[in-house]
Amino acid sequence: MTPRAYNFSAGPAALPLEVLEQAAREMTNWRGSGMSVMEMSHRGPEFISIAAQAEADLRELLSVPSDYAVLFLQGGGLGENAIVPLNLMGEKARADYLITGSWSAKSVEEARRFGEVNVVAEASKPYCGMPAPEHWRTNSQAAYFHLCTNETIDGVEIHELPFEAVPSGVPIVADVSSHILSRPLDINRYGCIYGGAQKNIGPAGLTLAIVRRDLLGRAHAMCPSVFNYQLLDQSGSMYNTPPTYGIYIAGLVFQWLKRQGGLAAIEAMNVAKAQALYDVLDRGGLFYNRVDPAYRSRMNVTFFLRDEGLNQAFLDGAKAQGMVQLKGHRSVGGMRASIYNAVPLQAVQTLVSYMNEFERTHG
Ligand SMILES: Cc1ncc(COP(=O)(O)O)c(C=O)c1O
Repeated sequence: MTPRAYNFSAGPAALPLEVLEQAAREMTNWRGSGMSVMEMSHRGPEFISIAAQAEADLRELLSVPSDYAVLFLQGGGLGENAIVPLNLMGEKARADYLITGSWSAKSVEEARRFGEVNVVAEASKPYCGMPAPEHWRTNSQAAYFHLCTNETIDGVEIHELPFEAVPSGVPIVADVSSHILSRPLDINRYGCIYGGAQKNIGPAGLTLAIVRRDLLGRAHAMCPSVFNYQLLDQSGSMYNTPPTYGIYIAGLVFQWLKRQGGLAAIEAMNVAKAQALYDVLDRGGLFYNRVDPAYRSRMNVTFFLRDEGLNQAFLDGAKAQGMVQLKGHRSVGGMRASIYNAVPLQAVQTLVSYMNEFERTHG
């Protein structure tokens, strides 16, 4: 059998092998039900129990209090760029947006279709950090303050959000697509967090949103019912057919995370994996990273070769050793190693050894 690749894809991304193996064992007959999860009615007792367990495990992992709704829906991260304003702008019809990278810039473009968008600050390009909070031009009348806490394309992560810079009473909405569940997060500081599943949660097609319940009920009349957070909450995410198989796999990932020791334990692993790569990049050899060290992502490590003429040789050599999807996003160039929770330490160590070897042979 071909060995599994060391997969550094930004998403859809590596899933824990244990999860895939369990899903394979349960593929045609889920726990004696005589059915694949894919074949089950979403209203039947089997799937209801799968969804309930997934939600309970997620609530436990992230310590989500009962005044927050956990919603499993569709539409992806980009869908949320419309779903959020449709649900949360309300009568104020205006919101604050911080731009720290490609995805938050895209969020602004979409939100402008639904109301007045105030860009509180925009990081300069190439994106490599967060504009200083003293330069933010916030609006205390904003319906919410939106940001992306991990910019997947640029490799920029906001490790500590300056909550005091957001006017009190303005709920914070965060696109956490590419680092949710990589570390503990105090959900009480947020009005809403959302993300596509295809990085740290499960397969593409499932979107997760966690919304403080007092923000529900202000959806725009034009908001499609299937994207109305309140209707989704009232129906236990079953207003229409939810992405059932995605929810099942996400549930297996949540249980895997609990077996790893929860989010504090996984964070320690993630710190170690990222540090191993940044150590190579900081050595001043053939590679470099251009993100402000305070904002370097633990999930998406972007880097460049000083001699771009060596890019293809680097990728080819990596592929020959089983390492795939290291090419940077087309808008940024260079390389990107996405090292989500399910990317094993061994994959990172293999990449580090390869980079060392590449420097020896091409230096
Ligand atoms: C931070 C972030 N936001 C939004 C998106 C868009 O997500 P989707 O493709 O699920 O719409 C991505 C995709 O990579 C992302 O990384």
